[in-house]
Amino acid sequence: MSLVSMKELLDRAKEKNYAVGAFDTMDRVTTEAILEAAEETATPIILMVVPPCVNTGMMPDAEEFMHYVVNRCSRSPVPVALHLDHAPSYEDCIRGIKYGCTSVMFDGSSLPLEENIAITKKVIEAAHACGITVEAEIGHVAGHEGNMLDGNVADPSCYTSVEEAVRFQNETGVDCLAVAIGTVHGVYKGTPNIDYDRLDEIKKAVSIPIVLHGGSGLSDEDYKKLVQHGINKINFFTGMTLAGAKAVQDFAAATPKFQCMDVVQVMAKAQKDVVKHHIQVFGTLPVSRQS
Ligand code: 13P
Repeated sequence: MSLVSMKELLDRAKEKNYAVGAFDTMDRVTTEAILEAAEETATPIILMVVPPCVNTGMMPDAEEFMHYVVNRCSRSPVPVALHLDHAPSYEDCIRGIKYGCTSVMFDGSSLPLEENIAITKKVIEAAHACGITVEAEIGHVAGHEGNMLDGNVADPSCYTSVEEAVRFQNETGVDCLAVAIGTVHGVYKGTPNIDYDRLDEIKKAVSIPIVLHGGSGLSDEDYKKLVQHGINKINFFTGMTLAGAKAVQDFAAATPKFQCMDVVQVMAKAQKDVVKHHIQVFGTLPVSRQS
């Protein structure tokens, strides 16, 4: 099994009507938790690294970390797509490919459409030449992953326009498209309000798999409905971090004496449980039922 292309995973998910969970990591404990969740449920998974992981200027041990990640994914008994999440530039995408990612996201969602299209095309030209999947974003999903303090609000004026999604697909040949339909990165301020009508219109108009960012903070019913309406990749990070932190707090409050390693194990188990739960709710088919 081991490392596979994200396109392969998402095309299968689209055909069989489920979503593949995509979980961010930037450390070994979280990476193991995510991969073990996939391995114990025998399901495909998307492991996402963030831009500092492919940039030694930002993370001095980036090269060593990516070497471990690629090695670990290659040895996994389940199919794993290794994806670079939210790369802000062409150069970052190329670094992701160099470090072994099988998929990259160029995030030009804050740029004018023409510029987003132009850079995405350049990334695709390089990535497709070596079999790497490319994700891009049209419209803009607000907030920051892991923002647990202030709460983020979706801005309907930044939602994905159907016309732009069609134009983007046709002009770039991108493999999958992240859309803004009411979710935000990080913790929500208020109740999330997802625009299912917009999602249906986009789904009808484009032929590639649709990606949801800002997956944390939704109910299980929301996830199931999103999958029914055609979402094939759900990005999830903040919920995993919150679950790890809460488990450590509860453990520390209930345990008079403990060691450092206990804390790491408590955090990892909580993260793994959250990932397993979401794999199940997203309806990801186990490897044995894929064909
Ligand atoms: P959350 O942190 O809100 O789950 O969003 C994750 C995400 O979209 C990563 O790209």
